[in-house]
Amino acid sequence: MRISVFGLGYVGAVSAVCLARDGHEVIGVDPNQTKVDLINGGHSPIVEKGLEDLISAAVGRGLLRAVTDAGPAVDGSDLSLVCVGTPSEANGSLNLRYVRAVCEQIGRCLAKKGSYHTVVMRSTILPGTMRGTVIPALEQASSLKAGRDFGVCNNPEFLREGTAIHDYDHPPKTVIGTVDQRSGDLLASLYERLEAPMIRTAVETAEMVKYVDNVWHAVKVAFANEVGSVCKKIGIDSHSVMDIFCQDRKLNISPHYLKPGFAFGGSCLPKDVSALSYEAARLDLRLPLLESIMESNRLHVERGLEMIMAHGRKRIGVLGLSFKAGTDDLRHSPMVDVTERLIGKGYDVRLYDRNVSLSRLIGANREYILSHIPHIARLMVESLDKVLAFAEVIVIGNGSEEFGAALHRLRDDQQVIDLVRLKPSGPINARYEGIAW
Ligand SMILES: NC(=O)c1ccc[n+]([C@@H]2O[C@H](COP(=O)([O-])OP(=O)(O)OC[C@H]3O[C@@H](n4cnc5c(N)ncnc54)[C@H](O)[C@@H]3O)[C@@H](O)[C@H]2O)c1
Repeated sequence: MRISVFGLGYVGAVSAVCLARDGHEVIGVDPNQTKVDLINGGHSPIVEKGLEDLISAAVGRGLLRAVTDAGPAVDGSDLSLVCVGTPSEANGSLNLRYVRAVCEQIGRCLAKKGSYHTVVMRSTILPGTMRGTVIPALEQASSLKAGRDFGVCNNPEFLREGTAIHDYDHPPKTVIGTVDQRSGDLLASLYERLEAPMIRTAVETAEMVKYVDNVWHAVKVAFANEVGSVCKKIGIDSHSVMDIFCQDRKLNISPHYLKPGFAFGGSCLPKDVSALSYEAARLDLRLPLLESIMESNRLHVERGLEMIMAHGRKRIGVLGLSFKAGTDDLRHSPMVDVTERLIGKGYDVRLYDRNVSLSRLIGANREYILSHIPHIARLMVESLDKVLAFAEVIVIGNGSEEFGAALHRLRDDQQVIDLVRLKPSGPINARYEGIAW
């Protein structure tokens, strides 16, 4: 393929040379004359293991050259990879100056080109930037229509400096966000030889994935360092602790606990997060990540409550009171909190939870229910259908299997607030809203 690469920094230089190494004809573009001269002389514009040798070989084979002007690059290629910088402003916001400028340059070239061209954003940009900035800038400058006259994709880059060539060849995944099928297919063909999963998705999802990845990496580093700080204070080897932690691939290093849903609760997580935070404070350690967890959870409960109250309807049916399906444990259940707040605000609430009902009659939790939440227990109804018939707003509080089927028995004047992503298996009559999706 004939490819142009805009921006010859860490991402652009590595992409350009790896594509040339693989036999593509590549033109790099950068306004920085020194970078352009270095590449044309077979040298690397950045310090990165193995890059200089690859550049020198690719330039020698005539498959890589660099220019400062966008015109010949767009004319001489079918696809442009945009790898310009997206730095932070002083206030932390994203500076899109280079993205706008490069889109205008490419757009002006597209106006003259006359044949189909695909523009691929590899720079990291916030969700909405493709549709809000990139596409309008390209369309305005070219007087052409994206998706019809030229293609656009978002294709975030996951390489790490220092191991960039290895990462380019072995990415964890390839993500292509598209607005049109044709340009997505063309770009996907470029990555055919990679063994990584190929994920085609909406442009906004592709834009977001890159941020979620990097924020997650940052959370992991901060988490490990806070754990290390506590361990050091109390004389425990933090590396032994984290080695054991990382060996748990079922619950720790796994998709568990990583799906948006309702607040955590139950008899363990709140208690143990609180105890470790307290212990850290006692040791005079400031650990903002650890300290923020309970507050983050509290605000999520607040969001759930606001969603329920936003409908201005008084009759509320709560399905599922325990913090997760299949248990009658009500200790620190966020749904108990939500229910108490609703009752306090004068809402007419009915509850259904098969496990809690059973427990109320005979279970180990009977004592807890009767002594701690008798006001809630009084509102419990023995039949799911009675709650469905009564309520104007139905709140799904845990993922009990019977609730999925119940959604299909609702009327079109009812509202479902789903806190656990018990997505209905098909269309339902009632209006549906999820807490974090
Ligand atoms: N560095 C990384 O490890 C890494 C990894 C993944 C993603 N990213 C993202 O990729 C993007 C690029 O990062 P980088 O570290 O390679 O940036 P960089 O600052 O090293 O390079 C950007 C290059 O773009 C050039 N440029 C500016 N305007 C241009 C224009 N109009 N036309 C052509 N070139 C132009 C600059 O001269 C510079 O050489 C950023 O959005 C970054 O967040 C970086």
